[in-house]
Amino acid sequence: MKFAFLVLFLFAAQSVAVYAGSFHKDVKIHWGDGRGKIRDRDGKLLSLSLDKSSGSGFQSNQEFLYGKAEVQMKLVPGNSAGTVTTFYLKSPGTTWDEIDFEFLGNISGHPYTLHTNVYTQGSGEKEQQFHLWFDPTVNFHTYCITWNPQRIIFTVDGIPIREFKNTESMGVPFPKNQPMRLYASLWEAEHWATRGGLEKTDWSKAPFTAFYRNYNVEGCVWANGKSSCPGNSPWFTQKVDFEGQKKMKWAQSKYMIYNYCTDKRRFPRGVPAYSYYYFSSHYIYTCLPSYLFLTFLTKHKDMSSFKIFFFSALLAAVFSASAADFNSDVNVAWGNGRGKILNNGQLLTLTLDKSSGSGFQSKAEYLFGKIDMQIKLVPGNSAGTVTTFYLKSEGSTWDEIDFEFLGNMSGDPYTLHTNVYTQGKGDKEQQFHLWFDPAANFHTYSILWNPQRIIWTVDNTPIREFKNSEPLGVLFPKSKPMRMYASLWNADDWATRGGLVKTDWSKAPFVASYRHIKCDGCVHANGRSSCSSTRPTSNWYTQQMDSTSQARLRWVQKNYMIYNYCTDSKRFPQGIPRECATSA
Ligand SMILES: *[C@@H]1O[C@H](CO)[C@@H](O)[C@H](O)[C@H]1NC(C)=O
Ligand SMILES: *[C@@H]1O[C@H](CO)[C@@H](O)[C@H](O)[C@H]1NC(C)=O
Repeated sequence: MKFAFLVLFLFAAQSVAVYAGSFHKDVKIHWGDGRGKIRDRDGKLLSLSLDKSSGSGFQSNQEFLYGKAEVQMKLVPGNSAGTVTTFYLKSPGTTWDEIDFEFLGNISGHPYTLHTNVYTQGSGEKEQQFHLWFDPTVNFHTYCITWNPQRIIFTVDGIPIREFKNTESMGVPFPKNQPMRLYASLWEAEHWATRGGLEKTDWSKAPFTAFYRNYNVEGCVWANGKSSCPGNSPWFTQKVDFEGQKKMKWAQSKYMIYNYCTDKRRFPRGVPAYSYYYFSSHYIYTCLPSYLFLTFLTKHKDMSSFKIFFFSALLAAVFSASAADFNSDVNVAWGNGRGKILNNGQLLTLTLDKSSGSGFQSKAEYLFGKIDMQIKLVPGNSAGTVTTFYLKSEGSTWDEIDFEFLGNMSGDPYTLHTNVYTQGKGDKEQQFHLWFDPAANFHTYSILWNPQRIIWTVDNTPIREFKNSEPLGVLFPKSKPMRMYASLWNADDWATRGGLVKTDWSKAPFVASYRHIKCDGCVHANGRSSCSSTRPTSNWYTQQMDSTSQARLRWVQKNYMIYNYCTDSKRFPQGIPRECATSA
């Protein structure tokens, strides 16, 4: 009897201690315009939602210098691709400290990625990522960050998945001077979160909702420049005990999918010396707006004010294949002097530094054509940079045909990313490595676009063909005139190794060079295509792949293709896209 009482008492005491918090009294929903809601009178349940206009988030009223923050979360169910749900501690300022839990959504039936990181004085790069041993969207599970002077411990349902020890004695900074607030949010990051940005958010499923329950933070509250710690708190000296070590080994051996400590490529001078300790991670929110801004600039720059009348030059421009010069064919569209036409129009250089990239675009629009360009890419450490050459129409249901070169660290290969959009829909990525170093010399990249097919070639070797499969019900770009664009910009949030490798700004300015531009196409002006009256006799308009080209295409695809949406059956559980049967 006495024993039963004792057990009951302990149980009660523990549940009080663990879930003592109230969302009403402890947090403020600081953004989302009503999308974050406390759902009950006791303040035990809170929901955050995300729709196309905004996500939402809350933050703790108090700041803490050390503490234990715990919450139960139930994540966005179904197709959560492109969404990110977070729970983290962070101090303000530009040399902030931060301890992160981030849940990167996925398409239905595919696992969430739990991303962890630690920042000290603004430096992070201590990522570890995990899958979970349960579906985090079905029930609530408990996520906890313990931060004391000796270590940071991340636990999931009481199982430690990561320990980041204080190794200041080895010269490794540890967060210990800056008080942090607790934050939680649900937001959209479809440009990098899911499969490195390949999976976009399905807005037809919005609003997305994540639930937080039983919030509890115990810590040394920081106020008026002083910290007050509750006496004798177990978390203040907590370690990972023997049982905990065993569980952590289990979680790490079975569920860890990325560990910066074992990423030798990323740390060519040796992985962090202290890597036999376990470290933890997060992406920089502050980078996101600037990244989105750059994407916006690059992809949606609206230069419709160019009303150019090509009447006199029209016939010449349509069929002549003479290499033109940059002065007559393009405008440097953005970058504030970072794009330069040199050598009487024979050479164009684009530059990227920390403040901006740059870009140019063709003066004419084309409805079908063949555009060739020689490009020499950014040499050395080009990680985080993206150099592009693409065709694109205007408006929200645009067509687009892309060459994008994703930079890499010195000695690692560029990724050549190709895609086609019709009426605003893409999702047809193929990626390649190249059989040469594209930064050592100029090489010729061409887009051939005629009513039957699109062919991407590199030094006259076809690397991809996208056939017109309209008879199968597949959209094909054929009614919107496109302009040619090229740009050099920064996308270190996703470009290199899915955003893990950042741009090394000490190497800036980065320079990519373009020459021998040749725009051979049906010029579209004043609502008319030059080809509608004079059917082009040029080769490109009816060009097909002969057997030699087919053989070379197979060689490239066999040896250099690194991603093909057509073979990504996980991504298309209802069956691969129809056109894949005919065009590889
Ligand atoms: C999504 O699912 C894929 C395939 O199962 C997996 O490799 C990936 O880690 C998952 N998570 C994210 C965020 O892409
Ligand atoms: C960078 O190099 C790594 C390692 O060789 C490779 O897997 C990756 O495809 C390269 N490209 C990018 C853009 O990360």
